[in-house]
Amino acid sequence: MTGRKILMNFEVTPDSHTLGAYLGRGGYQTIAKVLREMKPEDVTKEIVASGIQGRGGAAFPAGRKWQVVDPHDGQPHFLIANADEGEPGTFKDRWVLEHSPHTLLESMLVAAYALAARHTFVYIRGEFDQPYTRLAAAVEEAYAAGYFGENILGSGFSCDVYVFRGAGAYVCGEASSLLASIEGSRGYPRNRPPRLTVKGLFQRPTVVNNVETLSNLAWIIAHGAEEYRKVGTPKSPGTRLISISGHIQRPGVYEVEMGYSWAKFLHEDCGGVLHGRKLKALIPGGISSQVLTGHGAKVLTADSVDSLLLDHQALWDVGSSLGSGGMIAIAEGTCMVRLLQVMLRFYHHESCGQCTPCREGMGWAHRIIDRIVSGEGRPEDIDRLLHISKFNDGTTICGLGDAAGYATIAFIEHFRDEFEYLIEHKRSKNDGRLECLPEVANA
Ligand SMILES: Cc1cc2nc3c(=O)[nH]c(=O)nc-3n(C[C@H](O)[C@H](O)[C@H](O)COP(=O)(O)O)c2cc1C
Repeated sequence: MTGRKILMNFEVTPDSHTLGAYLGRGGYQTIAKVLREMKPEDVTKEIVASGIQGRGGAAFPAGRKWQVVDPHDGQPHFLIANADEGEPGTFKDRWVLEHSPHTLLESMLVAAYALAARHTFVYIRGEFDQPYTRLAAAVEEAYAAGYFGENILGSGFSCDVYVFRGAGAYVCGEASSLLASIEGSRGYPRNRPPRLTVKGLFQRPTVVNNVETLSNLAWIIAHGAEEYRKVGTPKSPGTRLISISGHIQRPGVYEVEMGYSWAKFLHEDCGGVLHGRKLKALIPGGISSQVLTGHGAKVLTADSVDSLLLDHQALWDVGSSLGSGGMIAIAEGTCMVRLLQVMLRFYHHESCGQCTPCREGMGWAHRIIDRIVSGEGRPEDIDRLLHISKFNDGTTICGLGDAAGYATIAFIEHFRDEFEYLIEHKRSKNDGRLECLPEVANA
């Protein structure tokens, strides 16, 4: 057990994604109550009071974002659920879309009412097949039952939802490029200000929230902000969906109460590191969050992990973040240089090319790490990688280049010896291994 549950509080069955099953769990009663009894600003007030932080990566308080939108300003407003889920290691929004898409849809109705958003979108990554099929079926069911469309439940409130499939670009998960993509333009991020809540989709006030963030809203409104605040920690209320993969016995998606013991989660709930090996490092929230390890100041070893709690503040305190909730366990014996090579190839491929430091920097970093891994590295390459990473910081429109830089710096800070060894000996300290093999018994 990983603490109290908000989203995974039902048994998954072959039909738990259907409207019938959702209604059986008390579904769509919250939106009925909201439309009957609450004013839009009451809903926003409750979300502000709940303290829920965004689950898409930056942990920005959802209520504060919404407060920028005035539901009575007479303009069209838009609400977007970000289901792009492109951050490597992250597959938790997928769980909601596959097993309880109506939780998202009902929560979107609640949000749309608060924001006076007549039109809403779910921007879903193109590669998602089953999640798309289930979401599209849920949308049809919800329309047929009168939860979307004109005059919902006789309240006078009307709302439509469109499911928009992306074409597989990581950068289109970034909120402003996502909007460009919906508008039919190339998925380029754009500078702020103006904020998207002031000028977003089609130049109108727009709220973009992550699928998990939004999916919590129906529960918050049904139970009240006070009850929500009793779950989790004072600074990080609620729960987190964590997708865990890599060298772990029981990979998958877990709902974990904020403040839960990290040691219990990894070693009991997830069964520990694969083949009984020791934990070498942990990527806590998608590859864009800084790797944590036993080396250096930001300590996280199989032993010291015991003292760490799973919440935003605890991770910020050790110089990383819970990010997108995509946790990757890395066993002893893994080649960290090879792992960084895989990551830098990804960032290089996904850089949209708009900002010079990211376009050129990702290419340089990728070529340098390729050179190191192939045994052609030069001693100055390590500092060159650090220089490129630091130079990116704050010089680009979106966070892609920054994140790649932070990730690279953390890898080098913690595992500099592995980079130096590979350059000097022209072979990896760990045989260039990424997979976790079982121990071979001595013959
Ligand atoms: C390169 C890049 C990719 C991103 N990809 C996603 C994504 O796949 N899903 C997501 O929810 N947020 C993603 N984000 C964050 C969004 O820009 C935005 O902050 C988020 O959707 C807001 O939702 P939240 O406040 O509920 O977390 C990405 C950001 C960057 C810079």
